[in-house]
Amino acid sequence: MIKDTKNPPIDRIDGRMKVTGGAKYFADFELPNMAYCVLVGSEIAKGTITSLDTKRATGAPGVMGVFTHQNMPPIPGFDAPVGGEADGLAPKPKTEETYRILSSPKILFDGQPIAIVVADSFERATYAASLIKATYNKQTARTDLQKHVAEGIAPRGAEGGNYSRGKADAYQTAPVTLEANYTIPVEVHNPMELHGILAHWTGANTLMIYAKTQGVNATQNAMAQAFKIDPKNIHVHTEFMGGGFGMGLRTWPQETAVVAIARKIGRPLKLVMNRSQMFTLVGHRPYTVQTINLGADTDGKLIGIAHAATAETASYEDFTEATVNMTKFMYACPNVSTRYRIVRLDRSVPIWMRGPGEATGAFALESAMDEMAHKLNLDPIEFRLRNYTETDPEHNRPYSSKHLKEAYQRGAEAIGWNNRKPQPGSQRDGEWLVGYGMSTGVFNAFRWEASARALLKADGTLTVQSAVTDIGPGTGTALTVIAHNVLGVPVDGIKVEYGDTSLPKAPSQGGSAIVSAVGSAVYDACTAIKQTLIELASKDGGPMAGRQADELTLADGVLSVTTEPGKKVTVSELMRTNNLTVIDKTKDSKGSPELEKYSMYSFSVHFVQVRVNPLTGVVRVAKAVSVADSGRIISPKTAASQMIGGVTGGIGMALTEEAVIDHRFGRYVNNNLADYHVAVHADVPAIETIFIDKPDPIINPMGAKGMGEIALIGFAGAVANAVFNATGQRVRDLPITPDKVM
Ligand code: MOS
Repeated sequence: MIKDTKNPPIDRIDGRMKVTGGAKYFADFELPNMAYCVLVGSEIAKGTITSLDTKRATGAPGVMGVFTHQNMPPIPGFDAPVGGEADGLAPKPKTEETYRILSSPKILFDGQPIAIVVADSFERATYAASLIKATYNKQTARTDLQKHVAEGIAPRGAEGGNYSRGKADAYQTAPVTLEANYTIPVEVHNPMELHGILAHWTGANTLMIYAKTQGVNATQNAMAQAFKIDPKNIHVHTEFMGGGFGMGLRTWPQETAVVAIARKIGRPLKLVMNRSQMFTLVGHRPYTVQTINLGADTDGKLIGIAHAATAETASYEDFTEATVNMTKFMYACPNVSTRYRIVRLDRSVPIWMRGPGEATGAFALESAMDEMAHKLNLDPIEFRLRNYTETDPEHNRPYSSKHLKEAYQRGAEAIGWNNRKPQPGSQRDGEWLVGYGMSTGVFNAFRWEASARALLKADGTLTVQSAVTDIGPGTGTALTVIAHNVLGVPVDGIKVEYGDTSLPKAPSQGGSAIVSAVGSAVYDACTAIKQTLIELASKDGGPMAGRQADELTLADGVLSVTTEPGKKVTVSELMRTNNLTVIDKTKDSKGSPELEKYSMYSFSVHFVQVRVNPLTGVVRVAKAVSVADSGRIISPKTAASQMIGGVTGGIGMALTEEAVIDHRFGRYVNNNLADYHVAVHADVPAIETIFIDKPDPIINPMGAKGMGEIALIGFAGAVANAVFNATGQRVRDLPITPDKVM
């Protein structure tokens, strides 16, 4: 375990590169002889292509090929992964329908690629794509979940089925009851960087890929399966990524298609999708409806909770997420039941997005908790404290660590919770109504398997390597701090290399799991180096002969006896006298079975003050305080930035983000950044972040739990609860647009 000292708040190691253009994203790579491709999407959401005129496109200047279902080169492993199965995170059960890109005239969703045009420039490919004309036999598309909720099926995946403890209907007979319905619209990740791939067959069976992926090893495996070649012959590079938010957690069919076409035409091939294609081809947060039932006694003790959620998925793949899971373990309640259903619609398949299902579920549960607190005439924090649990009631086991009470208290102090008036609509500032709200968030703290390599050179510098990609949270920076803490090498003497399959294997960056997973491997590799140094120093004839490891301190390239600072040897001297130029250690790290005795979660509490204009219905988040109980904070600066980023996403989720479908056509009407509103600078106040910063004694040697997802999970509920406090309007359908507040 790392000493309980503050970690250094170092600057982001890749910050300068990112702001000076030195960081190369996949689309920045240029290869000799490279060609460009552009996707042509279906104009209908369901039916069959009856004719496809590609003649003009084929004859257009610079065009090297037009690929449709009539001439698409075969993808050898098409029965295996068009994505998902190989991403290492969760299997996606198949449905009766299958979607295999450009393999049939059948249309399963709006925007489905019907052609891929290849040309010698992006502009020429774009022009040629505009010349393709299709006719369709159109069928009625089912795209409106609200109309088809009754068709929900229990998914076969991990989140399928029902959960229940105690009496499932106990809430019905409780003295105080509440039933409420919630809607989460379709939301789209919309990172700044556009999605795509650059594929280069460097030999008959060897492949180089520059991709926009959250996991280079996952992409490597997916392509190995698709093309039936050894993963060792596939090199994937993604050092930088301009935002992922979950969309890069699988390999998408159009990426596989580009690789197949690149092989066929014998040139490196680049695909950069446009913004509207990113609404249909790289996943989205699924439209979800939820019902919460709460029953409590008049003292505010929960007697029963029921949580039912129904979400959309595609006709051709069952996407599931952990929407109802938080309800199972968050509160001390003897009678809890949850039910999760999916409805197969004529839509493209969803994927995890920002705090995924947990964010959807937390909005419902934490809104209901606020509503119930109001019914009970209790402060919302007091109501949560009356139902606080120190152990996990779902699995009957302890939490690895939980400091949520302290988080409630510190957040309440920071926002000025005492200023909240329980009576809704009773606080004004000029023409603005003022309200306060809070919500809890929670997400699994994982310990996935990962490996890392560390190389200490005789000059005292250290290189750390892992295949993991850094999609933005500051992974490289956190790994630097971990290495610094173990070996005492100054941070500017540490180089972290990541985002490439030539480096030791790592899981995809997602699930808030990377500091825990890859950080542990870095910790272990650096610890192995430290042990080697101590062995060299303490062996017979060594400068510290007879000393034990725990008597020694390693800092700034000097190994010394802790109690006798004068007794020391430099690392370079030690290596030189042993004829070593480098100490090179690779470690594979995973959690011990001991971890299974615990429930491991990170917790957050979000507090907001909103101002609502009663004339226009405009809601402004005026203040936000987010508190994280995510174990030891490794990199305080980047962790705070990540928290701010999550809250910014939370403001969008709460107030503006909604991909609107015109169900007559099964198509989006706002598939661009002008009409799909992400939170922008003017929407975001100064956000205060607070870390409890107490090490988790179980999860890993750093004591760090994850903190990416909890930055957003719960936030929208805090805003909705504050809007209620400000106005008396309970908005249960996101986003909270002015029309719903008026
Ligand atoms: Mo995150 S939704 O695990 O990229």
